Amino acid sequence: MSETNFKERVFSGIQPSGNLTLGNYLGAVKRFVEMQNSGIETIYCMVDLHAITVWQDPIALKTQTRELAAAYIACGLDPNKSILFNQSQVSAHAELGWILSCVTRLGWMNRMTQFKDKAGKNAEKMSLGLYAYPALMAADILAYQATHVPVGEDQKQHVELTRDIAAKFNHDYGLELFPLPEPIIEGAATRVMSLRDGSKKMSKSDPSDKSRINMTDNADTIASKIRKAKTDPDSLPSEPKGLENRPEARNLVNIYAALSDSSVSDVLKEFGGQQFGTFKPILAELAVNHLAPISSEMARLMDDPVEIDRLLNDGAMRADAIAAPILKKVKNAVGMIV
Ligand code: AMP
Ligand code: TRP
Repeated sequence: MSETNFKERVFSGIQPSGNLTLGNYLGAVKRFVEMQNSGIETIYCMVDLHAITVWQDPIALKTQTRELAAAYIACGLDPNKSILFNQSQVSAHAELGWILSCVTRLGWMNRMTQFKDKAGKNAEKMSLGLYAYPALMAADILAYQATHVPVGEDQKQHVELTRDIAAKFNHDYGLELFPLPEPIIEGAATRVMSLRDGSKKMSKSDPSDKSRINMTDNADTIASKIRKAKTDPDSLPSEPKGLENRPEARNLVNIYAALSDSSVSDVLKEFGGQQFGTFKPILAELAVNHLAPISSEMARLMDDPVEIDRLLNDGAMRADAIAAPILKKVKNAVGMIV
């Protein structure tokens, strides 16, 4: 729990940039659902303002936002239990994002490894938004005074930056307006790797579709991608230590553990000594049993986009009811006429 007396509140978001993957599911959405069902107040967002930091086709963006909403619900998020909404429909995000940009130091931003990874050698051609986006992410979290942020490992640095921004704001304006939120990075698959290269994160944007399992893949596609996943020629070890320096083997075992809600060492107790030829079909069956009902529920929900938009409008109103009074306090603290 954070230092001061803030109510426990969970916030997280995912970009509606298409191709929700097994990495997003195991690293993020599965945990979102568990937290919702544990009875804490939970707020989950489609972060479209983040998605446009790189080019998004306008028509596709709307579809992808609805698809992400459908995925959230198909995975078990209940719009009656959680607040589920689209970022740009709540203006506090952009407004607080600007104010926090004025608190954030350039030196802090220059350390963000995700920007360096995404921009590579082309930093000059990237948008200012892509560089500034961690300050907007801090605003997403702090607009709700959220205390806990479930994310995959790649987002840890951004949540830590959020803590620095919150602390500096509190210090500069002499009040405890923001909690210092904690990243929640748990489970056996906080970093799901590419099925083609165990050194790369499974990603929506990998040019090879075979590198990832999409939440919309059908049973045959899932099974074939797992069968063809890169592995080494050895059999599975019977203890976690034996997975060292075997990134592809470790990735498949992590996925199995996360999907079956068990630990890596339990999985290895069961499968140690077996070849991938035996393990892969069993993993494929587990993945299909888990994911096929989600993708068919997504397809069903996508048949009624009007209903999705209605749910999102309702979510935005509920989110705004929390964020607007907090933003008002921020503006007042900063010296703006409210
Ligand atoms: P993004 O797709 O970048 O918006 O990520 C949304 C959420 O999914 C974040 O919490 C990420 O940390 C998480 N995530 C994305 N890719 C992976 C992955 N390969 N393994 C684990 N978590 C992931
Ligand atoms: N930056 C996150 C990602 O790309 C998405 C995100 C935006 C987020 N705002 C957030 C995650 C607030 C947690 C909390 O994965």
